[in-house]
Amino acid sequence: MERIDKIISTELNIARTGARELIKSGKVFLNGVPVKSASLKINEESDILNIGGKEIRFRKYVYIMMNKPEGVISSTDGRKTAEKTVIDILPDEMKRKNLFPAGRLDKNTTGFVLITDDGNFAHRILSPKSHIPKTYIAGLDKPFDDIVLKAFQSGMTIGSDVCMPAVLEAVNGDFKTARVVIKQGMYHQIKRMFKSFGIEVLSLKRIKMGKLCLDEALAPGACRFIDKKELEMILSE
Ligand code: URA
Repeated sequence: MERIDKIISTELNIARTGARELIKSGKVFLNGVPVKSASLKINEESDILNIGGKEIRFRKYVYIMMNKPEGVISSTDGRKTAEKTVIDILPDEMKRKNLFPAGRLDKNTTGFVLITDDGNFAHRILSPKSHIPKTYIAGLDKPFDDIVLKAFQSGMTIGSDVCMPAVLEAVNGDFKTARVVIKQGMYHQIKRMFKSFGIEVLSLKRIKMGKLCLDEALAPGACRFIDKKELEMILSE
């Protein structure tokens, strides 16, 4: 059970005072009954909230799959650099307080980013102890060979970073498009792994987290909510 002013503030991404004003204005209805008190507790499982004639869906936490486009940063605040963030490009109806990307992709990397306001869930997937496989398609400037393959498979070091064994597979016959699966999320990890063999990564797209694939129906920049079953798929190794 959560206070109604808190839920309105979260769902409409407005300040608590704004939520209280809305309640005072008589536009807020719970199960068809006008709400008078901002401290009213609401049942997130069964109550129906309606503001100004529009039903508001409320959930404790949300989980959003985004197909990140190029040129957008995986951060919550791009003000310092005046860059667009994955939070900026969320559609207005999905925006709410405290959303952040659970894990980072480089600015020019595309594909699956999970955006949530559930810090515990994010911790479960980001903690160094959790080794959720993340699958990428990498476009390379030259083919990779057996030496690269063996290094990826057996675990290699880049500088002082120790990489866990990774999967590397050619996607087509020229060995310049690769499917890579890594279980960590170190800075520029895949680019640095290839770079240590003189191979440049020209494009990189994350297509899967755990067992959950990026929804192919999502155009670059598009997103959708994911449900509990899909969340569990992310956690499965
Ligand atoms: N590895 C990289 O080099 N960049 C990413 O964005 C993700 C993994």
